[in-house]
Parts: sequence; C-alpha cells; structure tokens
Amino acid sequence: MSDSDPIKIHPSAVVDEGAVIGESTAIWHFSHICSGAVIGKSCSLGQNVMVADNASLGNNVKVQNNVAIYGGIIVEDDVFLGPSCVLTNVTNPRSQVSRKSLFEKTLIRRGSSIGANATIVCGITLGRYCFIAAGAVVTKDIPDYGLVLGNPGKLSGYMSRHGHKLTFNESERATCPESHFVYEKVEDQVRCLDLNEDEPLPTELSIGSQYYDSFKK
Ligand SMILES: CC(C)(COP(=O)(O)OP(=O)(O)OC[C@H]1O[C@@H](n2cnc3c(N)ncnc32)[C@H](O)[C@@H]1OP(=O)(O)O)[C@@H](O)C(=O)NCCC(=O)NCCS
Repeated sequence: MSDSDPIKIHPSAVVDEGAVIGESTAIWHFSHICSGAVIGKSCSLGQNVMVADNASLGNNVKVQNNVAIYGGIIVEDDVFLGPSCVLTNVTNPRSQVSRKSLFEKTLIRRGSSIGANATIVCGITLGRYCFIAAGAVVTKDIPDYGLVLGNPGKLSGYMSRHGHKLTFNESERATCPESHFVYEKVEDQVRCLDLNEDEPLPTELSIGSQYYDSFKK
C-alpha cells in the first residue's frame, strides 16, 4: 500500500462515528474502532482488533489478529503488535469497583515489537525498538532496543532495528548483521551510530531478504 491509497475497511468491521483514521490504513475482518480512537496513516489492523476511546496509534503500525488496544495506551509510529498479545490498562481490576476514569498510561515507543501472546502490564514505557519475545510478561520499563524474555520478563540483551541480537565488543560497539549499522552501549543505553532513532529506514533497507537464522551463522 502506498501513502496515497484510500482507507480500507472490511465490511464486517465496525468503525464508530468520530474515530480518526489516517490515509492508507487497512482495517480487516470483525475489528472494532471506537469513536474516540485515533489511528495514523498506513497502519494495518488485522482480524478481531479493538481500538478503544482514548487509545492512539501512530503511523505504519502493524497490529496482528486478536489484539485489544485499551484506553490509556499510546502506540507510536512503526510499532508491531504480534498476534494475540495482551495490553492492559488497570493494575488492580475489580469488577465491583469502577475505575473508568483511572486508566493507566502505557507508552509503546517508536519501532517496538511485541511478540505473539506476550502480556504488557500497564503503566510502563517500552523503549524505542525494544523487542518483547513471544509469551513474555512485561512488568517494568524497557530501554531502547532492549530484548525481553520470559515470565516475569527479564532484559536478556539488545536487538537491532532490524531485529537481530547485538553482541557488544570490548569497546561496547556492535554491528547489526543485516543493516551493518553500528550500535553503541553507554551505561546500558544503546544508540545507533548510523541512523538516528527518529529517522525512517532507507527504502533499500526496509525489505528483508534472508531468514533470521541465516544471520546467526
Ligand atoms: C526472542 C526471539 C527472537 C529469540 O529467537 P532466537 O534468537 O532464535 O532464540 P534461540 O532459539 O537462539 O534461543 C536462545 C535462548 O532463548 C530462549 N528463548 C527463545 N525464545 C524465547 C521466548 N520467546 N521466551 C523465553 N525464552 C526464549 C531459548 O530457549 C534459548 O534458551 P537457552 O539458551 O537457555 O537454550 C524469538 O524466540 C521470539 O520470541 N520471536 C518473536 C516471534 C513472534 O512472536 N512473532 C510474531 C509475528 S508472527
């Protein structure tokens, strides 16, 4: 899809009046967009996705099937939400106590990926380009490029912008095997030295050509 394509809404989806949807965004089967939702351009929302009032998605966000984005959740540009991942907005829910005005904020920063079936407990920030492994349960803030595994989720390393584990040398530098971008770690903060975190990827680096495992060899 190019940025000039129209919005595509499958006939089985329900988009409430007032919802804001950017150009070239596609909303697939049985999804529900509530009236106060804001969705950017060039997003793809798969089957059975719900976006609540007071939830927002940036541009080029990919949401896989069966994901609910509740009020209080802010999803920045270029985020990938894996199939059936779970986002939350109340830490201590009780059916008998209404906390509709107390939804907690969760910020999912630019370029993050959340793996299939992972759970994000609310009130935290997932840093830019962090990578949450399939099935992880994340309870704490995650730094930029952080790789989190398990339940409870633990920081087990760092992933490049192309989604490869970074191995830092004695100078605390690491090279992504796919893009060849160099990353630097200073006091557990990782930065890409070759491309600013807020810059888009160059077009020639935005289409994968080899399987993940082939870069491990
Ligand atoms: C995190 C991830 C990228 C790691 O892949 P990998 O580099 O091939 O990992 P490996 O198979 O080399 O495993 C390395 C170690 O991490 C562990 N591990 C890998 N994935 C894990 C996960 N999701 N949760 C917990 N531990 C995991 C392995 O058991 C192994 O542990 P060991 O060293 O004690 O044996 C991958 O497992 C993952 O979760 N990808 C997300 C997939 C996804 O949800 N896609 C959605 C789109 S369809």
